[in-house]
Amino acid sequence: MILVTGGAGYIGSVTAELLLDRGEHVVILDNLDRGHRHAIPDGAIFYEGNVGDRQLTSRIAQEHEIEACIHFAALAYVGESVSEPARYFQNNIEQGFALLDSLVTAGVRQIDRIPMVRLGIVGA
Ligand SMILES: NC(=O)c1ccc[n+]([C@@H]2O[C@H](COP(=O)([O-])OP(=O)(O)OC[C@H]3O[C@@H](n4cnc5c(N)ncnc54)[C@H](O)[C@@H]3O)[C@@H](O)[C@H]2O)c1
Repeated sequence: MILVTGGAGYIGSVTAELLLDRGEHVVILDNLDRGHRHAIPDGAIFYEGNVGDRQLTSRIAQEHEIEACIHFAALAYVGESVSEPARYFQNNIEQGFALLDSLVTAGVRQIDRIPMVRLGIVGA
């Protein structure tokens, strides 16, 4: 099972679809702040919430055997990141680290089974 954060967004939804096409099981976590429910591909399990919500991310890790995470959940507008840097720091950096810490604590460490899928930060 692969966790795709930001899977209701542009890149995350396409990635989730490609993973499903090749037979992977996919869980999506997205707060729908910038994403769209209709972009979530059929066949993916969806959780609505923040990647920085440790209670939620550890529940997802308990409920599914997460072997890897592809992290796309982020605010991603250059102009906005300049005018609202604190918001970007909180959402992208602080919440990103909380996600990684939560998943590592939950035992998501098998990052070598599928070379393209790594536990790491793609965005942020
Ligand atoms: N679009 C591009 O061309 C491009 C190129 C290079 C890198 N990136 C990076 O890839 C990542 C995704 O970009 P995108 O274009 O798909 O953006 P997007 O806005 O379409 O998707 C981001 C998704 O993350 C969700 N999200 C944001 N903060 C969240 C949080 N704290 N918890 C849960 N969900 C949250 C949003 O609701 C949205 O669905 C970003 O980090 C971006 O910088 C994008």
